[in-house]
Amino acid sequence: GTTLGTAAAEKGRYFGTAVAAYKLSDSTYSGILNREFNMVTPENEMKWDATEPNQNQFSYGSADQIVNYAQSHGMRVRGHALAWHSQQPGWAQNLSGTALRNAMINHITNVAGHYKGKIYAWDVVNEAFADGGGGGRRDSNLQRTGNDWIEVAFRTARAADPGAKLCYNDYNTDDWNQAKTQGVYNMVKDFKARGVPIDCVGFQSHLNNQSPYPSNYRTTLSNFAALGVEVQITELDIEQANTTWYRNVTSDCLAVAACAGITVWGIRDSDSWRSSQNPLLFDGSGNKKAAYTAVLDAL
Ligand code: XIL
Repeated sequence: GTTLGTAAAEKGRYFGTAVAAYKLSDSTYSGILNREFNMVTPENEMKWDATEPNQNQFSYGSADQIVNYAQSHGMRVRGHALAWHSQQPGWAQNLSGTALRNAMINHITNVAGHYKGKIYAWDVVNEAFADGGGGGRRDSNLQRTGNDWIEVAFRTARAADPGAKLCYNDYNTDDWNQAKTQGVYNMVKDFKARGVPIDCVGFQSHLNNQSPYPSNYRTTLSNFAALGVEVQITELDIEQANTTWYRNVTSDCLAVAACAGITVWGIRDSDSWRSSQNPLLFDGSGNKKAAYTAVLDAL
């Protein structure tokens, strides 16, 4: 394959990117998107604040634009994200207890229902585990509704769209020896044992050059896969686009049969949420960087 998408497809994988609806009219942007990628994740458009700005009033314009674009260009869609402590609308931030729990359920039912049949995989729950050595849950308004909020979210998503793969998605879960990785692993193991519907685990992989490359990343991926879930690299970006690290991530995914694909978190450096670190595969003018070639060669 001569593009990321075709090369990944030859390996039975996808290659995706985060996209912003308002950039689809930029021909440099859409040119690269159409040429290189066969999976898209709306970068912000499916988040709670975007899709339900007022309680029980849903707003799908920008997200629909991305889904329609993807469908007309033969790309699949990762839905992101149904339940998350961040980017909640103000009204949800101000709820607690049963009212918040019911609002979460209503949100998932409506949003996953609206996109029923159109989503390859949903990030049902995003970033629910704490950083640091404890390996436990992150404190949040959702967590304070009860520890079962995550499984309720997954069961609600399954009911709303039985055809979508349901993922748990988080960052700093690449290193097998991290407490956070173990915490997520134990949750997935428990869900599998108790029949809570979960199909995939997303590894965001916002990698920071200052720490060593997580050399056991493929061990982490294969240990999760052994629980019976698909694994996906969901938001890849790497400080200064370290070519070795990009090559390593690509090889680590390909080394694990259940690693379904890689998504980078934006197209050009100028599109990145951390653009000052130039962490992506295309420069601000849309030219391929060395990291692009490293990934393509590794695929
Ligand atoms: C980021 C977006 O890229 C930014 O545009 C937005 O301002 C903040 O969120 N983890 C996630 C993503 O799951 O949703 C975040 O995306 C990056 C970190």
